[in-house]
Amino acid sequence: MTSPSSHLTLKEFCNSHYKGSAKHDGLEAVIDGIASGARDLEGQIRNGNLLGMLGTTGDVNVQGEIVQQLDAISSDTFVKKFQESGRVAMVGCEEIEHPVTFGDSEQHKYIVLMDPLDGSSNIDVAVSIGSIFGIWKRESSKSLNAESLLMPGSKQIGSAYVVYGSCTVLVVATEGSVNEFTMNPKDGDFYLTSANIMYPDKTPYYSVNDGNTAKWVDGIVKAVDQLRDGRSQRYIGSLVADFHRNIIKGGVFLYTADTKNTIGRLRLMYEANPLGYVSVQAGGAVSNGVENILNIQPVELHQRVPLIIGNKTLVNQIIETIKVT
Ligand code: AHG
Ligand code: MN
Ligand code: MN
Repeated sequence: MTSPSSHLTLKEFCNSHYKGSAKHDGLEAVIDGIASGARDLEGQIRNGNLLGMLGTTGDVNVQGEIVQQLDAISSDTFVKKFQESGRVAMVGCEEIEHPVTFGDSEQHKYIVLMDPLDGSSNIDVAVSIGSIFGIWKRESSKSLNAESLLMPGSKQIGSAYVVYGSCTVLVVATEGSVNEFTMNPKDGDFYLTSANIMYPDKTPYYSVNDGNTAKWVDGIVKAVDQLRDGRSQRYIGSLVADFHRNIIKGGVFLYTADTKNTIGRLRLMYEANPLGYVSVQAGGAVSNGVENILNIQPVELHQRVPLIIGNKTLVNQIIETIKVT
């Protein structure tokens, strides 16, 4: 058994990797905001049932989805943390219709797009949920407006996600480097538990909502048939948790377009792009079935996209099957 103190803390890691570096200067404050927000939320998630913080707010968000109390709390929490960081110029959020602008000083270097609470349908049934963040550098020569955050995923300087599961983990990715930090509930600090994560070669799992089978085109039906052969299906219904399992244990996740979700269901800017960036840094891939999702030029903050993400061989196999069917 090791003690948490024998692991590098997230703060030590960020200070040595980002602080003062030309490329990542100030990123340590953005990551610290994510960690601090995750720590606050973790407590609220664990005690939500007792504190009467579960259930809906009675509102419907910009996507037409029912807003859970924790959706709203997590959105407010991270918006505040990013504002306090002094390093974030603008935030785009699943739960907020328009971008929120904090400032355009020399210090306000970053733009963050977030899904503050992923897996809303799992909140009140004690199942893993998470938070997702894409981080871009703003173009300092241009003034800030609603268009400022419409940058392709390939331009991300980093991305991160949190899974509030059997333990709470924060995964941070920058170019060529994916690292997992686990929260110690005793002191609320995050400690490095897996360095330089890469997808394993083995692929025991595939993740898909099987209930959509009747709505798929033939190519998807065939591709999922191929995945089924020799693999176990694992589908949590929280993208971030399914993604985390697949990157650690090996596998692929897909939520493609179908006759109901004709443009896909998941969101390009704060689900597919941030996790796609992590996937590519870990030797995996991300695709909409036709092209690398990170190359898509976004047209609006809340746009949707078909998503195939995970082990590179499996992503390519699915694309190929769709193409030839
Ligand atoms: P969110 O809770 O942020 O709205 O995202 C839910 C998403 C994603 O996490 C998950 O993979 C997917 O919805 C599940 O959709 P289905 O219930 O249609 O399978
Ligand atoms: Mn989500
Ligand atoms: Mn969400």
